[in-house]
Amino acid sequence: MYEMKQPSNRNHQLHWMEKELLKLEEKSLLRSLHATTLLPDGWLYREDRKMLNLASNDYLGLAVDKQQNMDQTELSFLNEEQPQGSTASRLIVGHSPIYESFEEQFAAFKGTEACLVFSNGYMANLGIISSVVGRGDLVFSDRLNHASIVDGIILSRAEMKRYRHRDLDQLEQQLKQADSKRRKLIVTDSIFSMDGTIAPLKKLAALKDRYGAMLMVDEAHSGGVFGSDGQGLLHQLQLTDQVEIQMGTFSKAYGSYGAYVAGSNILKQYLINHSRSLIYTTALPPSLIHNLYSQWQRAKLDSWRRDRLLEHARWMRNELASLGFNIGESECQIIPIIVGSTERSLMFASELRKMGIAGVAIRPPTVPEGQARIRFTLMATHTLDNLKWAAAVISQTGLRLGVI
Ligand SMILES: Cc1ncc(COP(=O)(O)O)c(C=O)c1O
Repeated sequence: MYEMKQPSNRNHQLHWMEKELLKLEEKSLLRSLHATTLLPDGWLYREDRKMLNLASNDYLGLAVDKQQNMDQTELSFLNEEQPQGSTASRLIVGHSPIYESFEEQFAAFKGTEACLVFSNGYMANLGIISSVVGRGDLVFSDRLNHASIVDGIILSRAEMKRYRHRDLDQLEQQLKQADSKRRKLIVTDSIFSMDGTIAPLKKLAALKDRYGAMLMVDEAHSGGVFGSDGQGLLHQLQLTDQVEIQMGTFSKAYGSYGAYVAGSNILKQYLINHSRSLIYTTALPPSLIHNLYSQWQRAKLDSWRRDRLLEHARWMRNELASLGFNIGESECQIIPIIVGSTERSLMFASELRKMGIAGVAIRPPTVPEGQARIRFTLMATHTLDNLKWAAAVISQTGLRLGVI
């Protein structure tokens, strides 16, 4: 419930904000922060209660896990103390040697010529898209692409053509009608963050060739999870060489922070010269690159985490669907229960929290109007017993609230 903490004449100029907040509250769209402590093995502590964490993007369970001993002989600098701050942009004096080493090895892992680290996925999408297209160019974007992609397109001033989710017929129509002289970019999430659906990547690669467009794929939710060593979906589908721009984040399955773009050397040099979210920001601290380096090594080595996550996800999707829930077309570890009304979604999430399950209600504008939902996400560190218990609780609560 929204409460004005301190009615004050001093803040007279901000009263309009309070009115806006009240309007959001009336529509059950008010957002707020809740202190949350992450616990090991896929649990968390919130509102004085321990809950099963079915709401994070820590798919492999690496963010809160005791560091295991790794063979670090090839990574001698991992034993060196790294500075806590980078003190400047990469282009000034912030480009520590650990960046060079990490980018070289991560590019080899992805199977690309080069890799460039960005501060986070949001800034990567802004910086990449706004530098590879501009006024007069065209961007074809899946309607369910992440907000950072949409914001990158807006910032670029290119014309945005949105196509229905995974609707390649509509995309092809749009490509056909496009002026062949205009620069074209097709951009898609690999896994859609609120639906758990997978983009038709092979077909997209074929289409972009046919119409002379560049293809950019955001692997935020597939990196670390798909591919034999967690290289991502493009690698698993052997599409690495066919996609000009691959990006992903280290904040999800890798349980760390930061993001990357992987592709050709030319792309890297171009972005170093044009990408404002790389040029005009302080580089991530070397200590953080050190952390993500070791998180990546763990993600790569612990293939049991990927196996278990995907196996449990299959089980959970089947279970929730057979209980009668609408899980959309989820195909992976992100499993929504589409409720429809925002009020009922909030109520559902709140009742689940009382029962010890953290699942967050996702409302418009993050999802389309009338499609509010609970977005459940699984972690490799959950046990099957955890999930069986959760499915039973979700079922009882869903029945009680008339969701099923
Ligand atoms: C598809 C997608 N792209 C980009 C991002 C942004 O990444 P980051 O959290 O590293 O800023 C997210 C999530 O936040 C995402 O889901």
